[in-house]
Amino acid sequence: MKFFIDTANVDEIRDAVSMGMADGVTTNPSLMAREGGEPVALLKDITSIVAGPVSAEVISLDVDGMVQEARSLAVIAENIVVKIPMTVDGLKAVRTLSAEGIRTNVTLVFSPLQALMAAKAGANYVSPFVGRLDDLAQEGMPLVEQIGQIFINYEFPVEIIVASIRNPMHVLDAALVGAHIATIPHAVLAKLASHPLTDKGIEMFMADWQRVHGN
Ligand code: E4P
Repeated sequence: MKFFIDTANVDEIRDAVSMGMADGVTTNPSLMAREGGEPVALLKDITSIVAGPVSAEVISLDVDGMVQEARSLAVIAENIVVKIPMTVDGLKAVRTLSAEGIRTNVTLVFSPLQALMAAKAGANYVSPFVGRLDDLAQEGMPLVEQIGQIFINYEFPVEIIVASIRNPMHVLDAALVGAHIATIPHAVLAKLASHPLTDKGIEMFMADWQRVHGN
């Protein structure tokens, strides 16, 4: 399973890379806005830190605008994947971009049929947002399972990025249903690595050692 880091913060990305946990990065307009500064320069920085795919989202909502923006984003670096919102115009843009060899990640997916349409249009990735569904008391993970089954049924070569991850349970469930990728906020990544019994175990080993050998 691949881990992407769901952030536009270069310090968080560097930290995840140094742990060997950043197979890619996903950004969105909110995450980019949080960092401020010039977006193209920021994307250049991010793409130079991570070797894997870096999703950068278009702001336009019409087909022509999305396609133009996608072309400009795609030339920033070879590892840019253009994030396109799941709309009818978005599907049309994905179709055009796919024919041009520009990789896309269809975002804001909340139903299996949206994912099926994205795959048919030629998307390389789809991003179901599990956390935002859970926020509405509608379970998010069955959506990932259904999308996975549809892609297997018809052998779509599309990777599922489980997005809107809020906690370690989301990552565990994504792994158990066999999602290709989880895109994880840095704060959640840190939680995955820690366990109170690991900390307690280290404390006890150190205390035992010091009793006999000193510091
Ligand atoms: C994914 O690509 C999105 O950037 C992200 O996961 C959205 O998460 P949120 O629902 O916490 O904003």
